[in-house]
Amino acid sequence: MTAAQPFGPKGWTPEQLDNLTDQTYVITGANAGTGFQATRLLLSKGASVVMMNRNVQKSADAIKALKQEFGSNAKVTVMRMDLAQLGSVRAAASEVLKTVPHIDALLCNGAIAQIAKQEFTENGFESQLGVNHYGHFLLCGLLFQRIQESRGRIVVVASEGYKMGLKTIQFDDMNWNRNYHPNKTYCHSKLAQMMFAYELQDKIQQANKEVEVYVCHPGASNTSLIRDSASLATRVTWSLMVKMGLAQTAEKGAYPEVMCATAQHLNQRAYYGPTGRMNFGGPVGQCRLEPFALDKQVLTKLWALSEKETGFSWPI
Ligand SMILES: NC(=O)c1ccc[n+]([C@@H]2O[C@H](COP(=O)([O-])OP(=O)(O)OC[C@H]3O[C@@H](n4cnc5c(N)ncnc54)[C@H](OP(=O)(O)O)[C@@H]3O)[C@@H](O)[C@H]2O)c1
Repeated sequence: MTAAQPFGPKGWTPEQLDNLTDQTYVITGANAGTGFQATRLLLSKGASVVMMNRNVQKSADAIKALKQEFGSNAKVTVMRMDLAQLGSVRAAASEVLKTVPHIDALLCNGAIAQIAKQEFTENGFESQLGVNHYGHFLLCGLLFQRIQESRGRIVVVASEGYKMGLKTIQFDDMNWNRNYHPNKTYCHSKLAQMMFAYELQDKIQQANKEVEVYVCHPGASNTSLIRDSASLATRVTWSLMVKMGLAQTAEKGAYPEVMCATAQHLNQRAYYGPTGRMNFGGPVGQCRLEPFALDKQVLTKLWALSEKETGFSWPI
């Protein structure tokens, strides 16, 4: 075993999951891709899973498929939430607080990526930053007290893209009016999610709270992330990568987030995911974390800006 592969040469696999009866997981964007697969893995061990999804029909289809696989008593429910609308996030969080008494982990999985042309969320944020970062920033804040009472975890699903963009936060043009670029803007949003997580760890430590916060990435996984909103060139490149076998299955892509939600003895100031060639696939373990993701000045400034933009002051 090495520091990079604390779970042995094969890395973490679902064989290492314990029985999860009595555990409750809340996950965003779970009707497809790695979120759906993470839900499957958690249900397979008897957990309760609350999916927070935006699409009613896709959610109904997902629930149907899950109940077919795990039986009609499978403990899976869905709540409608659109991360692109802060009002929807508030309403969904309030429903969770009414109906879910215990949260062992909140998995921030849902995302959009590679949006070809600059778009905005209902609240006027560049769409990838708005959905991926601001939506989750608010959701985590609204559910924090419940997670804390549960001595639970927050898992942020990031991306290797965090090191393929500007490598910092573009505070003077958060909406990328000057230089919109589908990939760099996606990378910016994923770096923002990571910086949120590392700053939250600091705040939790300062406040002597017991919530654990983990950051992971799914490698390159064959999901529906690259869709019509991506440029033709991006879609063609991605489908070639898939054909060449460079993308692993969506199920394998779910391993890091399920591991971060359940495994013991993980490091928080870390970054987990596949550790094989270019971190596309391979054994799940600890990956190198680039120092710019921990730039304290940027972490603090992003937190303050996120509170202002979402109109939400964290209870910590
Ligand atoms: N696949 C990869 O190679 C890869 C690489 C690096 C990082 N990631 C990360 O992995 C995570 C999972 O992505 P995936 O690859 O599984 O993609 P996916 O198949 O497209 O799944 C994304 C999920 O997010 C949901 N979602 C999108 N916008 C939303 C919104 N406004 N409100 C609520 N839910 C929303 C989608 O719902 P709809 O079905 O309604 O659109 C879907 O359920 C993401 O955080 C992504 O950034 C993926």
